[in-house]
Amino acid sequence: MRVLVTKKIDNKGIDLLRASGHDVEIVTEQNGLSHNALVEKIRLYQPHALISMLTDSIDSEILNASETLAIVANYAVGFNNIDTLTAVQKRIFVTNTPDVLTESVAEFTFALMLAVGRHILPSDEFVKSGSFNGWQPDSYLGIELRGVTLGLLGVGRIGSRVAEIARNGFGMNVCYFDVTRNEALERSTGALFCAKKESVLSNADVISIHVPLTNDTRGMISNKEFQIMKRTAILINTARGPVINESALAEALQAERIAGAGIDVFEYEPEVNALLKTCKNAVLTPHIGSATERARSEMSRLAAENILQAFRGIVPQHAVNTNKKT
Ligand code: GLV
Ligand code: GLV
Repeated sequence: MRVLVTKKIDNKGIDLLRASGHDVEIVTEQNGLSHNALVEKIRLYQPHALISMLTDSIDSEILNASETLAIVANYAVGFNNIDTLTAVQKRIFVTNTPDVLTESVAEFTFALMLAVGRHILPSDEFVKSGSFNGWQPDSYLGIELRGVTLGLLGVGRIGSRVAEIARNGFGMNVCYFDVTRNEALERSTGALFCAKKESVLSNADVISIHVPLTNDTRGMISNKEFQIMKRTAILINTARGPVINESALAEALQAERIAGAGIDVFEYEPEVNALLKTCKNAVLTPHIGSATERARSEMSRLAAENILQAFRGIVPQHAVNTNKKT
């Protein structure tokens, strides 16, 4: 069978596919192909499986471009880039790569929290620019995480892991909003369920977003929401950019309506709001939450395993477009 991979990824999964006798073609352009070029490539190559990136918009045109396409294995846990409805109609499986990146994203969430809360970037700049000429009692005073309230929006796998580290590692108090209550998490971390996101936003010292991007979560943090946050609040987003209205975020930071933000994902990736880029109280990273060697290699393995299952005619373990809960 033929497998097309839309960007160069870790070899683990590629090796698995080739060892099983499949042909694997990998797009070598560093930035992948434009949408039209990808459609054209699929028309020519007629793959049975596609390993897609979150940067590919897998719409009906793509899904219709190969007569033989049986599965789209997204190299990500999020799959908002894929038209899953059309995939269902065409009986094409869509799979994601959950669990293996939970730890990397959860740990990265704290990297951002500490970077913002302890002014790591400005103080690094201060030292490197040669300005450090004596210890001062009051320079770069930040916050401690112990005892402060972490407000989580979304407690799926990643949000839950963040809650555990927050509670058991840093001694934070956790409250959360989600569409479903997570009582197991409440028992293990003492997390407090809030029936409204507004209660989380107004009570939390640090707010961290862990919801998937859907019609319900798009723009869930905008002007109105910034108005009810504490002025001392720090906002972290390692989920999907469009959950936050980015210009509202930039204005809130500029006006010091909130204290800071750690942002790994952007509304119009790879474009970043010009005002946001000038905000001294923001730490901005290029969508690298899952970027550890282990996570990326495991994501490659999972994508390949899902494809091998689909080729064997069984429902892949991480199919998202079935009734099976993922
Ligand atoms: C990364 O953003 C992912 O969804 O895996
Ligand atoms: C994604 O892995 C999530 O459930 O948070």
